[in-house]
Amino acid sequence: MTENTPPVCNYEDSDYQQSFWETGGRAYEDAAEEIALKHLLPAGGKNLLELGAGAGRNTSRYAGFESITLVDYSLTQLQQAVNRLGRSERYRYVAADIYRLPLGERLFDAATMIRTLHHMKDAPLALAKVQACLQPGAVFILEYANKLNLKAMLRYALKRQTWNPYSLEPVEFAELNFDFHPQAIRNWLQQTGFRLERQLTVSHFRVGFLKRLFPARFLAALDSVASLTGDWWQLTPSVFTRSIVENKADGLVDALFHCPACRTPLQDTPPELICSGCGKRYPVIDGIYDFRAG
Ligand SMILES: C[S@@+](CC[C@H](N)C(=O)[O-])C[C@H]1O[C@@H](n2cnc3c(N)ncnc32)[C@H](O)[C@@H]1O
Repeated sequence: MTENTPPVCNYEDSDYQQSFWETGGRAYEDAAEEIALKHLLPAGGKNLLELGAGAGRNTSRYAGFESITLVDYSLTQLQQAVNRLGRSERYRYVAADIYRLPLGERLFDAATMIRTLHHMKDAPLALAKVQACLQPGAVFILEYANKLNLKAMLRYALKRQTWNPYSLEPVEFAELNFDFHPQAIRNWLQQTGFRLERQLTVSHFRVGFLKRLFPARFLAALDSVASLTGDWWQLTPSVFTRSIVENKADGLVDALFHCPACRTPLQDTPPELICSGCGKRYPVIDGIYDFRAG
């Protein structure tokens, strides 16, 4: 019964957090994203699901939530998140593929997916998998990379770029790295049972000389003002959206873990979870549930 799912972009052993965020000159983008999350996230809630959590860069920004489940395919990214956030009842670390989530239905009242959809070859499938884990009325904050950004439009007009920023299909600009058209994202959100409430454009000033000239916090404050036009037009490289899960058929909140291969509910029995349906075994390594096997 194992599904054939699209390939995963591999971050195992990557120094992404260090090289991209900590020493990569991205203080402005980080500050702008922090402000966007503040605008979009509810003040509090119970169970938040963070998809593609990486090294946990954003996790401490979900301070109002009682419990946070960090999902990422890379064990080494999650190990960095454990080092950053520590082990506590509040955090659950899960190594799993978003296309094959080992989680029950209706478990979460909020979810975020930041800088992760751009690795999804089948974005609508990924969105449908996320939607299944959420309660009716849950909030979903999605960030996506926008192909219809000013730079791409200009380059296309000057014939410096062959792909068309105006067409709805995603562009794969590097292997398993996709930019999306805002209208395609809106269509997929609607088709997968989300009601789009708000769009914020982010990273208006992602230009080298501006970042060198002005302090990151100043640019991020300007960005947050410009982002308020996000419901009218989206011309920035990054767009944040807030959607609400539409009503679903009645059903009980499911067991926390399910076998990603056969969907049998799993008992939470560290150091190993064994599926009574198909016999697959899932280890818990240094506090991280590892559901990638099989
Ligand atoms: C660019 S990083 C972003 C990390 C974090 N959200 C941030 O903004 O700092 C993308 C993350 O998505 C994870 N990822 C990519 N494809 C995935 C998949 N199919 N399932 C789970 N995680 C995935 C990668 O392992 C990586 O940690």
